[in-house]
Amino acid sequence: MTSSRTLKNILVTGGAGFIGSNFIRVLLNNPEFTGRVINLDKLTYAGNAASLDDVAAAFPERYIFKQGDICDRAFVEGLFDEYGIDTVCHLAAESHVDRSIEGPEAFIRTNVNGTFTLLDAARKAWIGDFEGKLFHHVSTDEVYGSLGDTGYFYETTPYDPRSPYSASKASSDHLVMAYFHTYCLPVTMTNCSNNYGPYQFPEKLIPVMIENMLKGKPLPVYGDGKNIRDWLFVEDHNTAVWAVMQGGKLGETYNIGGENEWENIRLVNTLCEVVASEAGKEVQDLKDLITFVKDRPGHDQRYAINCDKLKNELGWTQSLDFEEGLKKTVRWYLDNRAWIENIKSGEYRKWMEKNYTER
Ligand code: NAD
Ligand code: TYD
Repeated sequence: MTSSRTLKNILVTGGAGFIGSNFIRVLLNNPEFTGRVINLDKLTYAGNAASLDDVAAAFPERYIFKQGDICDRAFVEGLFDEYGIDTVCHLAAESHVDRSIEGPEAFIRTNVNGTFTLLDAARKAWIGDFEGKLFHHVSTDEVYGSLGDTGYFYETTPYDPRSPYSASKASSDHLVMAYFHTYCLPVTMTNCSNNYGPYQFPEKLIPVMIENMLKGKPLPVYGDGKNIRDWLFVEDHNTAVWAVMQGGKLGETYNIGGENEWENIRLVNTLCEVVASEAGKEVQDLKDLITFVKDRPGHDQRYAINCDKLKNELGWTQSLDFEEGLKKTVRWYLDNRAWIENIKSGEYRKWMEKNYTER
Protein backbone atom coordinates (compact mmCIF):
# COMPACT_ATOMS: atom_id res chain seq x y z
CA MET A 1 0.00 0.00 0.00
CA THR A 2 1.33 3.45 -0.89
CA SER A 3 -0.54 6.68 -0.20
CA SER A 4 -0.97 10.01 -1.94
CA ARG A 5 1.70 11.70 0.10
CA THR A 6 1.69 15.43 0.55
CA LEU A 7 5.47 15.81 1.15
CA LYS A 8 5.07 19.55 1.51
CA ASN A 9 6.08 20.73 4.96
CA ILE A 10 8.96 18.40 5.69
CA LEU A 11 10.53 18.24 9.12
CA VAL A 12 14.10 17.03 8.57
CA THR A 13 15.85 16.06 11.80
CA GLY A 14 19.64 16.14 11.90
CA GLY A 15 19.72 18.36 8.83
CA ALA A 16 22.96 20.04 9.92
CA GLY A 17 24.83 16.72 9.82
CA PHE A 18 26.60 15.00 6.95
CA ILE A 19 23.72 13.16 5.26
CA GLY A 20 20.95 15.51 6.41
CA SER A 21 22.56 18.63 4.96
CA ASN A 22 23.04 16.85 1.64
CA PHE A 23 19.41 15.64 1.73
CA ILE A 24 18.15 19.20 2.20
CA ARG A 25 20.41 20.59 -0.53
CA VAL A 26 19.34 17.90 -3.01
CA LEU A 27 15.66 18.28 -2.14
CA LEU A 28 15.46 22.06 -2.37
CA ASN A 29 17.37 22.06 -5.64
CA ASN A 30 14.94 19.52 -7.11
CA PRO A 31 12.52 21.58 -9.28
CA GLU A 32 9.76 19.02 -8.69
CA PHE A 33 9.73 19.79 -4.97
CA THR A 34 7.96 23.03 -4.15
CA GLY A 35 7.43 22.61 -0.41
CA ARG A 36 9.26 23.80 2.70
CA VAL A 37 11.98 22.18 4.77
CA ILE A 38 12.14 22.71 8.51
CA ASN A 39 15.54 21.58 9.73
CA LEU A 40 15.53 20.56 13.40
CA ASP A 41 19.04 20.02 14.71
CA LYS A 42 20.60 20.23 18.15
CA LEU A 43 23.99 21.18 16.69
CA THR A 44 26.01 18.61 18.58
CA TYR A 45 29.72 18.32 17.78
CA ALA A 46 28.63 16.70 14.47
CA GLY A 47 26.20 19.39 13.39
CA ASN A 48 27.17 22.53 11.54
CA ALA A 49 24.44 24.95 10.47
CA ALA A 50 26.95 26.69 8.20
CA SER A 51 26.96 23.60 5.96
CA LEU A 52 23.66 24.95 4.63
CA ASP A 53 24.55 28.66 4.31
CA ASP A 54 24.18 28.39 0.52
CA VAL A 55 20.74 26.80 0.86
CA ALA A 56 19.57 29.38 3.43
CA ALA A 57 20.59 32.16 1.04
CA ALA A 58 19.03 30.56 -2.04
CA PHE A 59 15.72 29.53 -0.42
CA PRO A 60 14.95 32.06 2.32
CA GLU A 61 11.19 31.30 2.24
CA ARG A 62 11.44 27.53 1.96
CA TYR A 63 14.29 26.66 4.32
CA ILE A 64 13.81 27.16 8.07
CA PHE A 65 16.43 26.22 10.64
CA LYS A 66 15.40 25.44 14.22
CA GLN A 67 17.99 24.56 16.81
CA GLY A 68 16.56 22.06 19.29
CA ASP A 69 16.62 18.56 20.68
CA ILE A 70 14.48 15.73 19.28
CA CYS A 71 14.05 14.55 22.90
CA ASP A 72 12.34 17.85 23.81
CA ARG A 73 8.71 16.86 23.48
CA ALA A 74 7.18 20.32 23.89
CA PHE A 75 9.56 21.82 21.37
CA VAL A 76 8.91 19.07 18.80
CA GLU A 77 5.14 19.31 19.22
CA GLY A 78 5.39 23.08 18.78
CA LEU A 79 7.09 22.58 15.41
CA PHE A 80 4.34 20.23 14.15
CA ASP A 81 1.78 22.92 15.05
CA GLU A 82 3.66 25.96 13.87
CA TYR A 83 4.66 24.59 10.46
CA GLY A 84 1.82 22.19 9.69
CA ILE A 85 4.28 19.33 9.36
CA ASP A 86 2.94 16.58 7.06
CA THR A 87 6.20 14.68 6.58
CA VAL A 88 9.15 13.74 8.75
CA CYS A 89 12.51 12.62 7.42
CA HIS A 90 14.30 11.49 10.56
CA LEU A 91 18.08 11.49 10.37
CA ALA A 92 19.12 12.98 13.72
CA ALA A 93 21.27 10.53 15.62
CA GLU A 94 24.48 9.94 17.42
CA SER A 95 26.22 8.17 14.56
CA HIS A 96 29.81 7.22 15.34
CA VAL A 97 30.50 3.63 16.47
CA ASP A 98 33.75 4.53 18.27
CA ARG A 99 31.98 7.23 20.29
CA SER A 100 29.22 4.74 21.17
CA ILE A 101 31.87 2.47 22.68
CA GLU A 102 33.33 5.35 24.72
CA GLY A 103 29.96 6.73 25.88
CA PRO A 104 26.80 4.80 24.97
CA GLU A 105 24.39 6.91 27.00
CA ALA A 106 23.98 9.72 24.48
CA PHE A 107 23.18 7.06 21.85
CA ILE A 108 20.34 5.62 23.89
CA ARG A 109 19.00 9.07 24.67
CA THR A 110 18.99 10.48 21.15
CA ASN A 111 18.56 7.38 19.01
CA VAL A 112 16.02 5.56 21.16
CA ASN A 113 14.25 8.18 23.30
CA GLY A 114 14.53 10.85 20.60
CA THR A 115 12.99 8.60 17.95
CA PHE A 116 10.20 7.67 20.36
CA THR A 117 9.50 11.34 21.07
CA LEU A 118 9.28 12.16 17.37
CA LEU A 119 7.06 9.18 16.59
CA ASP A 120 4.70 10.02 19.40
CA ALA A 121 4.59 13.71 18.48
CA ALA A 122 3.75 12.72 14.87
CA ARG A 123 1.02 10.36 16.07
CA LYS A 124 -0.48 13.06 18.25
CA ALA A 125 -0.32 15.73 15.54
CA TRP A 126 -1.75 13.51 12.80
CA ILE A 127 -4.19 11.34 14.74
CA GLY A 128 -7.50 10.92 12.92
CA ASP A 129 -5.99 12.15 9.66
CA PHE A 130 -3.07 10.03 8.53
CA GLU A 131 -3.91 10.56 4.85
CA GLY A 132 -1.02 12.17 2.99
CA LYS A 133 1.29 12.00 6.01
CA LEU A 134 4.63 10.19 6.18
CA PHE A 135 7.25 9.45 8.81
CA HIS A 136 10.43 8.28 7.07
CA HIS A 137 13.16 6.81 9.26
CA VAL A 138 16.77 6.74 8.06
CA SER A 139 18.66 3.79 9.45
CA THR A 140 21.76 1.74 8.88
CA ASP A 141 22.82 -1.70 7.63
CA GLU A 142 24.71 -2.13 10.93
CA VAL A 143 21.48 -3.33 12.59
CA TYR A 144 21.91 -6.62 10.70
CA GLY A 145 25.21 -7.43 12.44
CA SER A 146 28.36 -8.74 10.81
CA LEU A 147 28.82 -10.98 7.76
CA GLY A 148 31.50 -13.57 7.05
CA ASP A 149 33.19 -13.86 3.67
CA THR A 150 29.97 -14.47 1.78
CA GLY A 151 26.32 -13.47 1.83
CA TYR A 152 24.40 -10.21 1.93
CA PHE A 153 22.02 -8.26 4.14
CA TYR A 154 18.44 -8.46 2.85
CA GLU A 155 15.43 -6.62 4.25
CA THR A 156 14.45 -9.95 5.80
CA THR A 157 17.80 -10.56 7.53
CA PRO A 158 17.22 -10.89 11.30
CA TYR A 159 18.55 -8.01 13.36
CA ASP A 160 21.79 -8.76 15.22
CA PRO A 161 23.32 -5.44 16.33
CA ARG A 162 26.68 -5.67 18.07
CA SER A 163 27.75 -2.14 19.04
CA PRO A 164 25.90 0.34 21.26
CA TYR A 165 25.39 2.45 18.11
CA SER A 166 23.82 -0.33 16.06
CA ALA A 167 21.80 -1.56 19.05
CA SER A 168 20.36 1.92 19.55
CA LYS A 169 19.52 2.19 15.84
CA ALA A 170 17.93 -1.28 15.91
CA SER A 171 15.79 -0.19 18.87
CA SER A 172 14.67 2.89 16.97
CA ASP A 173 13.81 0.78 13.90
CA HIS A 174 11.65 -1.51 16.05
CA LEU A 175 9.84 1.49 17.53
CA VAL A 176 9.13 2.84 14.05
CA MET A 177 7.62 -0.48 12.95
CA ALA A 178 5.71 -0.79 16.24
CA TYR A 179 4.06 2.58 15.54
CA PHE A 180 3.06 1.32 12.09
CA HIS A 181 1.56 -1.93 13.33
CA THR A 182 -0.01 -0.60 16.52
CA TYR A 183 -1.20 2.87 15.55
CA CYS A 184 -1.15 2.65 11.71
CA LEU A 185 1.26 5.59 11.66
CA PRO A 186 2.31 5.88 7.99
CA VAL A 187 5.99 5.02 8.03
CA THR A 188 8.73 4.00 5.63
CA MET A 189 12.28 3.09 6.51
CA THR A 190 15.65 2.75 4.78
CA ASN A 191 18.77 0.88 5.93
CA CYS A 192 21.87 2.12 4.17
CA SER A 193 25.51 1.09 3.95
CA ASN A 194 28.51 3.36 4.67
CA ASN A 195 28.24 6.82 3.11
CA TYR A 196 31.07 9.07 1.96
CA GLY A 197 31.26 12.49 0.34
CA PRO A 198 31.54 16.22 1.12
CA TYR A 199 30.72 17.59 4.59
CA GLN A 200 31.41 14.32 6.43
CA PHE A 201 32.68 15.01 9.92
CA PRO A 202 36.41 14.23 9.95
CA GLU A 203 36.34 11.36 12.44
CA LYS A 204 34.89 8.72 10.09
CA LEU A 205 37.26 6.63 8.00
CA ILE A 206 37.47 8.50 4.68
CA PRO A 207 37.73 12.10 5.98
CA VAL A 208 40.12 11.03 8.79
CA MET A 209 42.41 9.54 6.15
CA ILE A 210 42.18 12.53 3.80
CA GLU A 211 42.87 14.98 6.62
CA ASN A 212 45.82 13.01 7.96
CA MET A 213 47.31 12.64 4.48
CA LEU A 214 47.09 16.38 3.95
CA LYS A 215 48.79 17.00 7.32
CA GLY A 216 51.40 14.21 6.93
CA LYS A 217 50.04 12.42 10.03
CA PRO A 218 49.82 8.62 10.55
CA LEU A 219 46.88 6.89 8.82
CA PRO A 220 45.36 4.75 11.63
CA VAL A 221 44.05 1.46 10.24
CA TYR A 222 42.25 -0.61 12.88
CA GLY A 223 43.34 -4.24 13.40
CA ASP A 224 44.58 -5.99 10.26
CA GLY A 225 42.71 -3.64 7.91
CA LYS A 226 40.73 -6.54 6.43
CA ASN A 227 37.28 -5.43 7.57
CA ILE A 228 34.97 -4.78 4.65
CA ARG A 229 32.46 -2.00 4.13
CA ASP A 230 30.07 -1.28 1.23
CA TRP A 231 30.52 2.39 0.23
CA LEU A 232 27.90 4.69 -1.28
CA PHE A 233 28.17 8.35 -2.33
CA VAL A 234 25.98 10.45 -0.03
CA GLU A 235 23.92 11.97 -2.85
CA ASP A 236 23.01 8.49 -4.10
CA HIS A 237 21.83 7.62 -0.59
CA ASN A 238 19.57 10.66 -0.62
CA THR A 239 18.08 10.07 -4.07
CA ALA A 240 17.14 6.63 -2.74
CA VAL A 241 15.61 8.08 0.43
CA TRP A 242 13.56 10.49 -1.67
CA ALA A 243 12.45 7.68 -3.99
CA VAL A 244 11.24 5.68 -0.98
CA MET A 245 9.52 8.71 0.53
CA GLN A 246 7.65 9.24 -2.71
CA GLY A 247 6.82 5.69 -3.71
CA GLY A 248 7.85 3.22 -1.02
CA LYS A 249 5.24 0.96 0.51
CA LEU A 250 4.04 1.94 3.97
CA GLY A 251 5.35 -0.18 6.80
CA GLU A 252 8.26 -1.47 4.74
CA THR A 253 11.99 -1.09 4.79
CA TYR A 254 14.28 -0.71 1.80
CA ASN A 255 17.97 -1.52 1.85
CA ILE A 256 20.25 1.01 0.15
CA GLY A 257 23.79 0.09 -0.81
CA GLY A 258 26.69 0.87 -3.06
CA GLU A 259 27.25 -2.72 -4.23
CA ASN A 260 30.80 -1.57 -3.71
CA GLU A 261 32.73 -3.63 -1.15
CA TRP A 262 36.22 -2.63 -0.09
CA GLU A 263 38.64 -3.96 2.48
CA ASN A 264 39.70 -0.97 4.61
CA ILE A 265 43.39 -1.37 3.77
CA ARG A 266 42.70 -1.52 0.04
CA LEU A 267 40.52 1.56 0.31
CA VAL A 268 43.19 3.49 2.22
CA ASN A 269 45.80 2.58 -0.42
CA THR A 270 43.49 3.75 -3.22
CA LEU A 271 42.74 6.94 -1.32
CA CYS A 272 46.52 7.60 -1.09
CA GLU A 273 46.62 7.47 -4.89
CA VAL A 274 43.67 9.83 -5.29
CA VAL A 275 45.00 12.35 -2.73
CA ALA A 276 48.49 12.19 -4.26
CA SER A 277 47.14 13.00 -7.69
CA GLU A 278 44.67 15.70 -6.55
CA ALA A 279 46.97 17.39 -4.00
CA GLY A 280 50.26 16.98 -5.89
CA LYS A 281 51.90 14.63 -3.36
CA GLU A 282 54.08 11.52 -3.71
CA VAL A 283 51.96 8.35 -3.45
CA GLN A 284 54.69 6.45 -1.60
CA ASP A 285 55.08 9.23 0.98
CA LEU A 286 51.36 8.88 1.76
CA LYS A 287 51.41 5.08 1.84
CA ASP A 288 54.35 5.23 4.27
CA LEU A 289 51.99 6.95 6.73
CA ILE A 290 49.76 3.84 7.01
CA THR A 291 49.89 2.62 10.62
CA PHE A 292 48.10 -0.44 11.96
CA VAL A 293 46.60 0.38 15.36
CA LYS A 294 44.69 -1.48 18.06
CA ASP A 295 41.42 -2.91 16.78
CA ARG A 296 37.98 -1.55 17.65
CA PRO A 297 36.28 -3.79 20.28
CA GLY A 298 33.61 -5.97 18.65
CA HIS A 299 34.66 -4.72 15.21
CA ASP A 300 32.10 -5.98 12.66
CA GLN A 301 33.93 -7.91 9.95
CA ARG A 302 31.91 -7.27 6.83
CA TYR A 303 28.84 -5.36 5.70
CA ALA A 304 27.30 -5.97 2.27
CA ILE A 305 23.87 -4.86 1.14
CA ASN A 306 21.50 -6.44 -1.31
CA CYS A 307 19.39 -3.54 -2.64
CA ASP A 308 17.44 -5.38 -5.36
CA LYS A 309 14.11 -4.51 -3.75
CA LEU A 310 14.79 -0.77 -4.09
CA LYS A 311 16.08 -1.16 -7.63
CA ASN A 312 13.25 -3.38 -8.82
CA GLU A 313 10.35 -1.61 -7.11
CA LEU A 314 11.39 2.00 -7.39
CA GLY A 315 13.87 2.06 -10.27
CA TRP A 316 16.68 3.61 -8.19
CA THR A 317 20.31 3.04 -9.06
CA GLN A 318 23.71 4.36 -7.98
CA SER A 319 24.94 7.21 -10.19
CA LEU A 320 28.63 7.42 -9.42
CA ASP A 321 31.47 4.95 -9.58
CA PHE A 322 33.74 4.83 -6.53
CA GLU A 323 36.90 6.31 -8.03
CA GLU A 324 34.91 9.25 -9.40
CA GLY A 325 33.19 9.69 -6.02
CA LEU A 326 36.48 9.56 -4.12
CA LYS A 327 37.99 12.14 -6.46
CA LYS A 328 35.02 14.47 -5.94
CA THR A 329 35.28 14.00 -2.18
CA VAL A 330 39.02 14.66 -2.01
CA ARG A 331 38.59 17.77 -4.17
CA TRP A 332 35.88 19.01 -1.84
CA TYR A 333 38.12 18.60 1.24
CA LEU A 334 40.92 20.41 -0.59
CA ASP A 335 38.67 23.27 -1.64
CA ASN A 336 36.86 23.74 1.68
CA ARG A 337 39.60 24.19 4.25
CA ALA A 338 37.61 26.85 6.11
CA TRP A 339 34.75 24.39 6.80
CA ILE A 340 37.20 21.81 8.15
CA GLU A 341 39.16 24.23 10.32
CA ASN A 342 35.92 25.67 11.67
CA ILE A 343 34.65 22.34 13.03
CA LYS A 344 37.94 21.39 14.59
CA SER A 345 36.83 22.81 17.89
CA GLY A 346 38.42 22.06 21.25
CA GLU A 347 35.96 19.19 21.66
CA TYR A 348 36.99 17.65 18.34
CA ARG A 349 40.69 17.94 19.15
CA LYS A 350 40.12 16.32 22.53
CA TRP A 351 38.38 13.34 20.88
CA MET A 352 41.12 12.82 18.29
CA GLU A 353 43.87 13.01 20.91
CA LYS A 354 42.13 10.56 23.24
CA ASN A 355 41.00 8.14 20.55
CA TYR A 356 44.28 7.82 18.80
CA THR A 357 46.81 8.05 21.62
CA GLU A 358 45.23 5.22 23.62
CA ARG A 359 45.48 2.66 20.84
P1 NAD B 1 26.03 12.98 11.63
O1 NAD B 1 26.58 12.56 12.95
O2 NAD B 1 26.91 13.63 10.62
O3 NAD B 1 24.80 13.98 11.86
C1 NAD B 1 23.84 13.80 12.86
C2 NAD B 1 23.11 15.12 13.07
O4 NAD B 1 22.11 14.90 14.09
C3 NAD B 1 24.02 16.25 13.57
O5 NAD B 1 23.77 17.42 12.82
C4 NAD B 1 23.61 16.43 15.04
O6 NAD B 1 23.77 17.76 15.49
C5 NAD B 1 22.16 16.00 15.00
N1 NAD B 1 21.68 15.53 16.31
C6 NAD B 1 22.30 14.63 17.15
N2 NAD B 1 21.58 14.49 18.26
C7 NAD B 1 20.47 15.27 18.15
C8 NAD B 1 19.35 15.52 18.96
N3 NAD B 1 19.22 14.93 20.16
N4 NAD B 1 18.39 16.37 18.51
C9 NAD B 1 18.52 16.97 17.31
N5 NAD B 1 19.58 16.79 16.49
C10 NAD B 1 20.54 15.94 16.91
O7 NAD B 1 25.34 11.68 11.04
P2 NAD B 1 25.14 11.22 9.53
O8 NAD B 1 26.31 10.43 9.10
O9 NAD B 1 24.70 12.39 8.72
O10 NAD B 1 23.92 10.20 9.71
C11 NAD B 1 22.57 10.63 9.59
C12 NAD B 1 21.64 9.45 9.78
O11 NAD B 1 21.94 8.44 8.80
C13 NAD B 1 21.81 8.75 11.14
O12 NAD B 1 20.51 8.39 11.60
C14 NAD B 1 22.65 7.51 10.84
O13 NAD B 1 22.34 6.48 11.74
C15 NAD B 1 22.18 7.19 9.43
N6 NAD B 1 23.17 6.48 8.59
C16 NAD B 1 24.44 6.97 8.44
C17 NAD B 1 25.35 6.32 7.61
C18 NAD B 1 26.76 6.85 7.40
O14 NAD B 1 27.56 6.19 6.73
N7 NAD B 1 27.10 8.04 7.87
C19 NAD B 1 24.96 5.15 6.94
C20 NAD B 1 23.66 4.66 7.13
C21 NAD B 1 22.76 5.35 7.94
P1 TYD C 1 33.64 4.28 10.22
O1 TYD C 1 33.85 5.33 9.18
O2 TYD C 1 33.77 4.65 11.65
O3 TYD C 1 32.22 3.62 9.91
P2 TYD C 1 31.52 2.29 10.55
O4 TYD C 1 32.29 1.85 11.72
O5 TYD C 1 30.18 2.82 10.91
O6 TYD C 1 31.50 1.29 9.44
O7 TYD C 1 34.67 3.08 9.94
C1 TYD C 1 34.68 2.41 8.70
C2 TYD C 1 35.69 1.28 8.80
O8 TYD C 1 37.01 1.84 8.93
C3 TYD C 1 35.50 0.40 10.02
O9 TYD C 1 35.82 -0.94 9.67
C4 TYD C 1 36.49 0.94 11.03
C5 TYD C 1 37.63 1.43 10.16
N1 TYD C 1 38.39 2.62 10.65
C6 TYD C 1 39.80 2.57 10.69
O10 TYD C 1 40.42 1.55 10.33
N2 TYD C 1 40.47 3.68 11.11
C7 TYD C 1 39.82 4.83 11.50
O11 TYD C 1 40.49 5.82 11.90
C8 TYD C 1 38.38 4.85 11.45
C9 TYD C 1 37.63 6.08 11.87
C10 TYD C 1 37.72 3.72 11.02
